[in-house]
Amino acid sequence: MKVVPKWFPDLRQFVPHFATKESPQIPIACKIQSYQEYELGYRKLAITLGRASSKPAPRELELLRLLIDRRTNPVGSLGVPDCLFMTAFVSIIRPRRMIEIGTGSGFSSAVLACAIDPRRTDSCTPCVDTLDAHATYFGDRELPVGFEVPRLISEFPRAVRVHAPRESDYIRNLAFPNELDMAFIDANHQHPCPLLDLLRLVPYVRSGGWILLHDIRLGTLVEESRKNGVPVAYEPVFGAEWLFDEWPWTKIDGGNIGAIQLPMERKAIWGPVRRLMKRPFEVCEQSYRRLRDEVSEAARTLD
Ligand SMILES: C[S@@+](CC[C@H](N)C(=O)[O-])C[C@H]1O[C@@H](n2cnc3c(N)ncnc32)[C@H](O)[C@@H]1O
Repeated sequence: MKVVPKWFPDLRQFVPHFATKESPQIPIACKIQSYQEYELGYRKLAITLGRASSKPAPRELELLRLLIDRRTNPVGSLGVPDCLFMTAFVSIIRPRRMIEIGTGSGFSSAVLACAIDPRRTDSCTPCVDTLDAHATYFGDRELPVGFEVPRLISEFPRAVRVHAPRESDYIRNLAFPNELDMAFIDANHQHPCPLLDLLRLVPYVRSGGWILLHDIRLGTLVEESRKNGVPVAYEPVFGAEWLFDEWPWTKIDGGNIGAIQLPMERKAIWGPVRRLMKRPFEVCEQSYRRLRDEVSEAARTLD
């Protein structure tokens, strides 16, 4: 008798389809909470992505653990479940290279580089281009953004190229149209900044490609903590959360990190853009007009 794991539901629910029409889409839950859950979570994610035969690379999890143990300051960076989800996702999709928006210390850039090619067959070619609006690290303005990269991946530091101070309009210098299989957004989470970053990435990601979004539950988590009497130093921000929730095509929920799949027709993204632009902006009022203009300009380039 064949043993079917409990989580193994109807595959039709899972295998991504390239929607051309907008329909409400319930995210597929694929959280990987701990190192122990990695193998099972990986398998589930691989099936979800229609790549059931994918296997983790040798030492993939070991390398990730090493990075997590080596990092100096996890504040504002990815938690362990986020890292596990991101590593599994990248390992399954196997992109040749990636762009990241929001470098911070460079921790997530190093995680991406290890996941793309844990064996680093070519240690000279960069595989992660990461950009940050600030030249210095938000946790210590004495340090340059991306300062952790050379220490975290000392064997192949050139795998990561840091571009700072730069914003998402710089992507046009980093990739060709339709080139990328996936990208990662973890920059300003105030609405509508994640939407703007997404729109500026879309022309460079192939149809049916994926965009990972970090902090898709940040607003709710902060609100819930406050309701439970736990003081949180910063305000709840919903930019990434609203973008993920509003996305009408295939999306995968990894907890506080998620993946959204681009539709075949990019013009279809105008629908969610229009709906999202009706939500209250979370940036300061002086930026409203500039952001409206930048979102409109980026949306116009969708074809
Ligand atoms: C949450 S941190 C990134 C953490 C990093 N991805 C990690 O997990 O290690 C967000 C970063 O985005 C940068 N940032 C803020 N606004 C930005 C923007 N509009 N474009 C690019 N980067 C931005 C900040 O300077 C900060 O370093």
